[in-house]
Amino acid sequence: MIAVAIDGPAGAGKSTIARKAAHELGFIYVDTGAMYRAVGLACLEKNIDTADSNAVAEMLAETDISIVFLNGEQHVLLNDRDVSSQIRTEQASMTASKVSQIPEVRQFLLDLQRNFAKTDNVIMDGRDIGTVVLPNAHVKIFLTASAENRAQRRVLQLKEKGEKVEYDQILSDIIRRDYEDSHRKEAPLKPADNAVTVDTTTMTLEESIAKIIAIIKENII
Ligand code: DC
Repeated sequence: MIAVAIDGPAGAGKSTIARKAAHELGFIYVDTGAMYRAVGLACLEKNIDTADSNAVAEMLAETDISIVFLNGEQHVLLNDRDVSSQIRTEQASMTASKVSQIPEVRQFLLDLQRNFAKTDNVIMDGRDIGTVVLPNAHVKIFLTASAENRAQRRVLQLKEKGEKVEYDQILSDIIRRDYEDSHRKEAPLKPADNAVTVDTTTMTLEESIAKIIAIIKENII
């Protein structure tokens, strides 16, 4: 099995790029952020304080999170309910960042994530795929872009979905989330030692996809 790890900060285009590259190469695409978002959503729905790691851990014991692929698209099920669109709000995103700092949450999702790489050729994206989840991945990519550029893209995405958003608010959320993701004790966001860093700030989406596919092909052939 071939495993490609793509890590990087929020909004660098990881999921779009990884999905397209996986489609082109015939690999499955696994979005691990969606799993953290599902845990975040579960906390929001059950009114669980994400600062209370014991309460979150207790909730996990009664929670089932699974991933299914429908027409090649990943769907996230929370206790058998498809929450793929509910997890995409800004609120779910901030809550995901909070719960991702809890060791029990990371441990809970680790096997689920690793199992995909046992049975399929995968492109998996997240924050700690190359460093923790799949340390033996054949290709490791660290995909990044400037915070301003990521905020602009995020504003466009959310506006398309009809959410009311302010650029300044999104930019400060991104900066805060980058800080939290890269300074947490558990599996912080950082490039794996042997990762190739790709900065997409000045690239179009098509250029970024072509670059990632080229890096993968160079490393697996
Ligand atoms: O990629 P995303 O924005 O959907 O991720 C949501 C949150 O989950 C993000 O704040 C960081 C966290 N996350 C993580 O800690 N480890 C991963 N492998 C994936 C996401």
